Amino acid sequence: MTIQFLGHASLLLTIDEINILVDPFISANPKASHIVFEDIKADYILLTHAHQDHILDAEVIAKRCGATIVSNFEIVSYYQKKGLNGHPMNHGGSWEFDFGTVKYVNAIHTSSFPDGTYGGQPGGFIIKAAQKTIYIAGDTALTYDMKLIPLQFKLDLAILPIGDNFTMGVEDALLASEFLECDKILGYHFDTFGYIEIDHQKSVQTFFEKDKDLMLLAIGESLTL
Ligand code: NI
Ligand code: MN
Repeated sequence: MTIQFLGHASLLLTIDEINILVDPFISANPKASHIVFEDIKADYILLTHAHQDHILDAEVIAKRCGATIVSNFEIVSYYQKKGLNGHPMNHGGSWEFDFGTVKYVNAIHTSSFPDGTYGGQPGGFIIKAAQKTIYIAGDTALTYDMKLIPLQFKLDLAILPIGDNFTMGVEDALLASEFLECDKILGYHFDTFGYIEIDHQKSVQTFFEKDKDLMLLAIGESLTL
């Protein structure tokens, strides 16, 4: 499994040559201007919630690639009305896709579309594929529900928001990694806007002091599990 960071909360997972795009917000992110937007390929687009900074490019890319949008029922219905392919889920549900199993799990946040349409309740994803299991938290506060995850899954990587203000900050993400029983963290949802700028070195050090590895990828950079 390869995970490419496309800036903010946008990720491109490649599993057995299947491309799974998560929360695409690329075309309006000036920090991601070196990413060639037209080259992004997606077989699936996973959306954690309906906020602009997570769905902005979903429609254009889904249309261009014929991708299937996977999200909560309300978000998928919104795109199905526009003629796009979708697979609706809701909290606690799992589905076996051709690349692996996805579970839609709780997040504490909000989820309205930019036009005010109700976007259901926000979530995160657990993806079990290619002998690896990862958790993509989406925008969320620290929540005790995270303690449920290691009862069922042995995580190889947790992708957590660390930018504070709209989501967890670094200190809460550190506690989250303890709840999740996962020492390997990829931080996201930081630096894009003034509200969520972080001190990289201090953030990495905070995790290092607890024998945990906080990775901060440059936009466009990948890691392989
Ligand atoms: Ni949000
Ligand atoms: Mn966000």
